[in-house]
Amino acid sequence: MSNEIKKTFHITTFGCQMNEHDSEIMAGMLIKAGYEPVKERKEAGIVIMNTCSIRENADKRFFGTLGQLKHRKENGENFIMCVCGCMPQQQHIIDTIKGKYPWVDLIFGTHNIHDFPRLLENCVSEKKKIIDVWPEGGEIVEGLPAKRLYKHKSYVNIMYGCNNFCTYCIVPYTRGRERSRSPEDIVREVTELAKDGVKEIMLLGQNVNSYKGVSGDKATPTTFAQLLCMLDKVPGIERIRFMTSHPKDLSDELIEAFRTCKHLCHQIHLPVQSGSSTVLKRMNRHYDRERYLDLVKRLRAAVPDICITTDIIVGFPGETEAEFDDTLSLCEEVGYDSAFTFLYSVRKGTPAAKMEDQIPETVKHERFNRLVDVINEGSARRNAEYVGRTVDVLIECEAKRERGDGLDRPGPGQVTLSGRTDGFKLVNLAGSKELIGQIVPVKIISSNTFSLVGEPARG
Ligand code: SAH
Ligand code: SF4
Ligand code: F3S
Repeated sequence: MSNEIKKTFHITTFGCQMNEHDSEIMAGMLIKAGYEPVKERKEAGIVIMNTCSIRENADKRFFGTLGQLKHRKENGENFIMCVCGCMPQQQHIIDTIKGKYPWVDLIFGTHNIHDFPRLLENCVSEKKKIIDVWPEGGEIVEGLPAKRLYKHKSYVNIMYGCNNFCTYCIVPYTRGRERSRSPEDIVREVTELAKDGVKEIMLLGQNVNSYKGVSGDKATPTTFAQLLCMLDKVPGIERIRFMTSHPKDLSDELIEAFRTCKHLCHQIHLPVQSGSSTVLKRMNRHYDRERYLDLVKRLRAAVPDICITTDIIVGFPGETEAEFDDTLSLCEEVGYDSAFTFLYSVRKGTPAAKMEDQIPETVKHERFNRLVDVINEGSARRNAEYVGRTVDVLIECEAKRERGDGLDRPGPGQVTLSGRTDGFKLVNLAGSKELIGQIVPVKIISSNTFSLVGEPARG
């Protein structure tokens, strides 16, 4: 077997959009350094796992995948194993990797991905193991290349880190304190993306509402709503989305921006976590049920067709049946377009991990199922309201799989396409491949719980 490391790489990404975007940047840097991406992990000279630690099953999936690679290393296969992302930001994880998976070659964290090519180079040339995890982020590094997953839409980081310390959450420990990019750097990046054919941008931050961008010459920082207005003017950008928006910092100025910014999509992901004010207090969320419902009311008054989605945690320590019922009734009251629902998962080092009254798994599962039923019924109802309407859809790609929605046999010259409405609803339709990348009017002909079915509107 040759001892040369192949100049190919494969990245497995776990976790959120932040991680997906970090992977795009790592891919961009590797391509610039002369490496080639490959689809199969076994073809890769550089194997990278960009990890997530948000819940226990994310940890388990990572260790499971790592375990599968063990025999390849033991059989003397020549590849460099890299682990990065949120897991190595915790010392106990580094200790586990060192103890149980000593053949991992390179470990780094969320704060130094810009340094990845140099670390890798040292690892390859000096054949030594490197662990380089920074406890905090330094200066924001601008201008890193990115290999985008999609041609017509792109993630754009506007800030890093989180200061909120919700009592269940590991993110403030893995991503450090909040740091905002300057508005000029963001506008420059978005302008470049637009020139490259990007029509839709998704602004990323753990809490975009607390964005504070400092410009060299200005005394007062730019707010998130002001940033949106600046990006609204970038030629070629037709859709602007953002996530995630923390209810505690959602300003009137932002609600107003939905009215004034032409390209801001009528969609908001507004994680509620629980419908019970007492649980919200124990979660350290800094808003209560009434304030949340009031925000929803004001958003709907300003933007009647806004689509609202959320995140909910079931079985937070001490959650009583009555507190859980408050979550169910809040969901009924809001009428979410969809929601991500999670079983509470103990995260080592967070305050909630030490709380008494951890909820038994059976109770969590039973509540989870009841919640999912309420959410799904709501989603199906909201989707059904679209039937008969014509909506603009950005056609993104060929549908990943047939969904039994009557689109299994597209006509001659047609394929099954997937796209998104302004409100981020998934639409499947039969049409020509040439529509990919275009925003087209689509007539909705039927609806499912998680998607809509349409056809290109005539005339
Ligand atoms: N910054 C975002 C959330 C990022 S994490 C916000 O505050 O809205 C995404 C979601 O994971 C959270 O909204 C929460 O619902 C869920 N989550 C975080 N920690 C969790 C835990 N320990 N157990 C279960 N779900 C969790
Ligand atoms: Fe986690 Fe809360 Fe920060 Fe979101 S706002 S990342 S849930 S600590
Ligand atoms: Fe996971 Fe880190 Fe994102 S813990 S959810 S990858 S910020």
